[in-house]
Amino acid sequence: MGITSWVRGGPVKSPFALPTGLLGHLAGLFMLWTNRQAELLPCLGIKPGEHVLEVGYGPGGLVKLLGRTGAARVCGVDPSPEMRSQAARRAKGADLRLGTAEDTGFAGDSFDCVVAVNNVALWPDLEAGLRELRRVTRPGGRVVLGWHGGTSPSMIARHLLLSEAELDRIRRALEETFDEVDRTELKSLTVFRARVIAHGDSPGVPRASG
Ligand SMILES: C[S@@+](CC[C@H](N)C(=O)[O-])C[C@H]1O[C@@H](n2cnc3c(N)ncnc32)[C@H](O)[C@@H]1O
Repeated sequence: MGITSWVRGGPVKSPFALPTGLLGHLAGLFMLWTNRQAELLPCLGIKPGEHVLEVGYGPGGLVKLLGRTGAARVCGVDPSPEMRSQAARRAKGADLRLGTAEDTGFAGDSFDCVVAVNNVALWPDLEAGLRELRRVTRPGGRVVLGWHGGTSPSMIARHLLLSEAELDRIRRALEETFDEVDRTELKSLTVFRARVIAHGDSPGVPRASG
């Protein structure tokens, strides 16, 4: 089964886009090995007791790290049953469900932080995905989107980079959906952060500490 992405405007048949079967299993192991996501943690700014959702968790590398942040609740959605079983083995205690960015299945205002890494360009409808992420984010919460890029992308990631026009479209869609947006370049990821301002909040996206 393939997926249709807003970037391609047509089907994407890669086993990395919706991992299934043996190829999907191997793709999951490969992603775990190559997509090291610890550099993203400072951008998330997770405080003890917070509720966190990872969208498109894949083989579970980040969701495992999220379990060590002091977050009170770590949840995830991904449409691939193969990724769900791989991630569940690594991230014991996390509430990992089948779902998508466009339809997470969680109640509104559930999360302090929602993160999606290396899947925003695979969503069928960018704006619908962002509306859903906004819906499940609490006032005062934030959404973080990462995609292959940054200051030093790997040889493999260089084939997956988005164009500046595509990155601009993500930024504009975030600005239409959230209150404050910024973009930062990590070593291997281009990262957008967006905030939902709570009543009485002072403006300004919190800076990453790393
Ligand atoms: C390239 S993998 C990235 C996995 C992991 N986040 C990482 O960086 O290693 C893309 C993941 O996004 C998931 N995915 C595909 N379409 C999605 C959608 N519409 N919403 C959420 N996740 C999706 C796939 O099942 C797959 O696990």
